[in-house]
Amino acid sequence: KDLGFVHRFERGENGAPTLLLLHGTGGDETDLIPLARHVTDGATILSPRGKVSENGMPRFFRRFAEGQFDLEDVAVRADELADFVAAARESYGLPAPVAVGFSNGANIAAVTMLRRAGVLAGAALLRAQPVLVPKEPVDLAGMPVLILSGDRDPIVSDYDSAGLAAVLEAAGADIRHETVSAGHSLTQTDVDLLKGWLAGLS
Ligand code: MLT
Repeated sequence: KDLGFVHRFERGENGAPTLLLLHGTGGDETDLIPLARHVTDGATILSPRGKVSENGMPRFFRRFAEGQFDLEDVAVRADELADFVAAARESYGLPAPVAVGFSNGANIAAVTMLRRAGVLAGAALLRAQPVLVPKEPVDLAGMPVLILSGDRDPIVSDYDSAGLAAVLEAAGADIRHETVSAGHSLTQTDVDLLKGWLAGLS
């Protein structure tokens, strides 16, 4: 069945988490699978490929330039991703997944949560920034969210990541925000923090 996105699906073990993996710009559906395998035992993995192409590089929504997002496209693409998750849950018989997103994938995860509150059971947002500030109040009461920022990230400033944390916190999410000594790329510290946070969910 066509679920609307090119994707990888790997069924895991009973009792292990179900993860929605969302790659960064220029990645694809295979990118984050080794990371997910490294930080969990037997997770079920749902991993779509972003449908927007920026000079051949897959992304989850359009931008005019770095940090200048096409907000109309963002909304449409987030809803499309939410529909994909719903279709995949039905087709594969899955619970609501926990998103693990990097960079552009983290950004679409945050927007999806803010537009469709029930779609995700939680989210690890790696190098995320605020893209869309909701106009109406959003209820994310108790939703576990991990935000990992890099203190030398040239793309996402401390101000940006703190702003995103504030938006999600205002919606009631249970936020853990850590700033690691890193740039935009992930480090071993990110991997360790992600692993610990995921272990604490179950
Ligand atoms: C974005 O466009 O979503 C962010 O700038 C992160 C990225 O470079 O993909």
